[in-house]
Amino acid sequence: MSRRSKKKRRKVLKHNAKRKPSDDSQSIITPKIKKYWLQRYSLFSRYDEGIKMDEEGWFSVTPEEIAVRHAQRSVAGGVVVVVDCFAGVGGNSIQFAALGYHVVAIDIDPKKVEMASNNAKIYGVDNYIDFIVGDFLQLAPSLKGNVVFLSPPWGGPSYKMTDNFTLNLLKPVDGHTLFQVAQTITPNIIMFLPRNVDVSQVEELSWLSSPPLNVEIEENYVQGFLKGITAYFGKTAYWGVAQETSSVHIHEV
Ligand SMILES: C[S@@+](CC[C@H](N)C(=O)[O-])C[C@H]1O[C@@H](n2cnc3c(N)ncnc32)[C@H](O)[C@@H]1O
Repeated sequence: MSRRSKKKRRKVLKHNAKRKPSDDSQSIITPKIKKYWLQRYSLFSRYDEGIKMDEEGWFSVTPEEIAVRHAQRSVAGGVVVVVDCFAGVGGNSIQFAALGYHVVAIDIDPKKVEMASNNAKIYGVDNYIDFIVGDFLQLAPSLKGNVVFLSPPWGGPSYKMTDNFTLNLLKPVDGHTLFQVAQTITPNIIMFLPRNVDVSQVEELSWLSSPPLNVEIEENYVQGFLKGITAYFGKTAYWGVAQETSSVHIHEV
């Protein structure tokens, strides 16, 4: 190899060494999460700026496009404070805060809260978020907010194995119990659920309130793939449309 081409090769290596950390240094990319890593920019568009995620974070973070949608939709609740009850690595909290809402972000796992706080700093919205390490079910009686956002664990990637995901499969408690706890804070509840969820059970949650709450159900797609289902209750249902009576409406986004 000539001196000139050696020099050129050194330059290329140096350039690659500079680029590598942005992709690989923040998270360990195991074969299990490779599939999610390939979609990293649809999870966090600013991934390369130092986003941190652990294995569960990779499986469970709300894709950014959907989190933006959730935040835009919460405005119908006359929102000032959003309680993000299962905040994870911050996918939703960041987008609520980006719209200027105050966010109470709760997660039972201290490492998730650390990562969410790091990720919120990258998006420049950490000042809008109060992070709490704790069990939402225990904390609920002391919480206040205009909108409650529920993105509970779906039980890992195996949720896809069933055709009909019933609400009793949600963690850490079944969907009915979770909804009742959330209602003690506000009836304006947004719930992000698996794409195979039993929609009729979700609709029935509105009957836990008297009079029954409005409910709107939305299918959420990213690049043509159905990623989840969002149920909007109370004033978050029917974006910009006042409804007098309880009814159900399903549409695709
Ligand atoms: C589906 S993930 C949330 C993902 C989040 N929306 C995001 O975009 O990053 C569910 C989270 O709930 C947390 N969790 C589980 N049980 C909890 C509890 N009892 N109270 C609060 N958080 C809990 C888990 O640690 C996990 O991070």
